[in-house]
Amino acid sequence: MLRRPRRNRQSAAIRGMAAETHLTVQHLVFPLFVLDGANIRTEIHSLPGIFRFSPDNLFREIESCMELGLRNFVVFPAVADGLKDTTATYSYSPDNFYLKMARAIKSRFPECCLISDVAMDPYSSDGHDGLVRNGEIVNDDSLPILAQMSVAQAEAGFDLLGPSDMMDGRVGFIRQELDKQGFTKTGILAYTAKYASAMYGPFRDALDSAPKSGDKKSYQMNPANKREALIEAELDTLEGADMLMVKPALHYLDVIHLLKENSRLPIAAYHVSGECAMLRAACNNGWLDFGRAMPEALLSIRRTNADVILTYFAKEFAMMFPGGV
Ligand code: PBG
Repeated sequence: MLRRPRRNRQSAAIRGMAAETHLTVQHLVFPLFVLDGANIRTEIHSLPGIFRFSPDNLFREIESCMELGLRNFVVFPAVADGLKDTTATYSYSPDNFYLKMARAIKSRFPECCLISDVAMDPYSSDGHDGLVRNGEIVNDDSLPILAQMSVAQAEAGFDLLGPSDMMDGRVGFIRQELDKQGFTKTGILAYTAKYASAMYGPFRDALDSAPKSGDKKSYQMNPANKREALIEAELDTLEGADMLMVKPALHYLDVIHLLKENSRLPIAAYHVSGECAMLRAACNNGWLDFGRAMPEALLSIRRTNADVILTYFAKEFAMMFPGGV
C-alpha cells in the first residue's frame, strides 16, 4: 500500500495539522431568555442547563460569557400573558422591558454583538409569528407591525435584527423602514430557511409561546424541501439581508451547505432547543459523553462551512474548549 490514510491520524500533532475544520468561540452565538422582574433565574425543564433570567441576572450572565471570549448573544423575551394582544403592541411599547434591557446591555457591554428576535409570537395572544385574521395568518398586514418592532429594537441598540417570522417580503420591508428612520448601521440576520420543525418545543416552553390554534406550516418551510431554500435565500439577499440563516441545523446540514455554496453572504445555522435537548438528555442519562458529543455536533455544523452557529451550548463550549476545537 503506497497510500495509508492512517499515517495522518497517528498523533495529536499530525491530526492537528491535517484538521480541515476548526471551531472557536468567535463563531458562536449564545441564545438567552429574559423575563421582567428582579433576581430571577429559573431553569427550563425541557432544556436543562438553560435559564430564564431577569435583566439583572442576565447582565451577570453576559459578563461571565464575555470573560470567556463569548461575545455574541441573541436574546428572546418571555412576556407576561396580560401584556399580549392580537397585534403585539407591547413589542414596540416604550415600557417594553426587552428594549430597556437591550439599551442597558449595549451601554454596559458596547463591544458585544446583540441580536434580537423579530416575530409577533412572544407578544401575540394568538401565539403566531404574524397577524391572525379569521384563523388565517395574514402576510402583508403583518409587515408594518414587524417593521415597527424592528425600528424599536434598532432604537434600543440591537446590532443585528433577527426576523424569525417567515412572512414574505419582511426583510425588504424592515430594511426600508430602518433606512428611512436613519438606522442604516443596524444589520439584518434573516431566518431564511426556517422549517416547520418539531425541534422548537423547549423554546416554546421557555417563552410560553406555542400557537394557541393550528400550527406554523403556512409560513415556516416544509422539512421535505431543499430547493425552495434557494428561493428564500435569493429573496432575502435581494431585500438587503446581511446574513442568512438555516434553522434547525443538524437535521438540515444539506440545506446549510447548499446556501453556503450558493451565496456570498455569511451563513448562520441555528442549533435549536430541541436538538440541544436531545443531546443533553442522552448525556444526563449517562448514554452519551457530553464532552465528546457536544463538540462533535457543533463541528458537524461547522463542517458545512457555516460561518455562524447559534447554540445553547455556546457557554459550555467556551468553558470546556477555550482554544477551540
Ligand atoms: C419564534 C422563534 C422560534 C425559535 C426562534 N424564534 C420558535 C418558533 O418558531 O415557534 C426557536 C428556537 C429554538 O427552538 O431554539 N419566532
